[in-house]
Amino acid sequence: MGRRMMVAGNWKMFTTSGEGALLVQDIAEGLGDVLEEVEAVVCPPFTGIKAASTVIELDHVTMGLGAQDMFWESEGAYTGAISARMLTELRCTHVIIGHSERREFFGETDETVNKKVHAVFAAGMTPIMCCGETLATRDALETDSFIRAQVLAGAAGLSADDAARLVIAYEPIWAIGTGRTPTPESANDVARSIRATVGAMYGPPAAMQVRVLYGGSVKAENAKMFFTEPDIDGALVGGAALKADSFAGIVRAAL
Ligand code: 13P
Repeated sequence: MGRRMMVAGNWKMFTTSGEGALLVQDIAEGLGDVLEEVEAVVCPPFTGIKAASTVIELDHVTMGLGAQDMFWESEGAYTGAISARMLTELRCTHVIIGHSERREFFGETDETVNKKVHAVFAAGMTPIMCCGETLATRDALETDSFIRAQVLAGAAGLSADDAARLVIAYEPIWAIGTGRTPTPESANDVARSIRATVGAMYGPPAAMQVRVLYGGSVKAENAKMFFTEPDIDGALVGGAALKADSFAGIVRAAL
């Protein structure tokens, strides 16, 4: 069976709970049956998850619901942290782990990413594990080795079955929120290398099944050119995920 295309919206620190509920409604209305074909996921801030979950349940929307981060411990004295159990109770299906903004502003490392990826799987959810290079790394022609190291460390110690269910988002940091993107061919080169790394770690079936998303300035207008690349299985979308019509346009481009 081929890999199912996925389009995930990372709302970052935008939308109140009320705004998010309306956004989910508008996205669902705009997409209708398309949601049966493409796996669409919305990732509101923590405070918006419950309201989004309620809309998804009451309106019978076929859409995944994700958090943007999670702590690896199940409970305890960890002020400000959120656990997997708190997310699964709200019917979360996905968790973004290791976004470059969490690495830059909140001290996330490959080691904490790995602990979180394990905890997400242990709770029965799907991690969307992020990787991506800076412009300096790209200019030094070190993208491939840098991304390989991030994947080796972030996805270490999984079962082959979990590795096959993993979603890896390749987001070049210089493409996030800048309007700049790599060429589809160069994004696919990195996606292929990510797949090969998973294959070296967990074998060919995991390499065949792991989904690799591209992220960074994806819009309805440019999504299709990434989606037609053989190793790119969808997108992780920031800014364009905050408007129902542009997000819906990207999901349609994945059909
Ligand atoms: P933009 O789509 O706004 O460039 O953000 C990408 C991103 O960081 C998604 O996680």
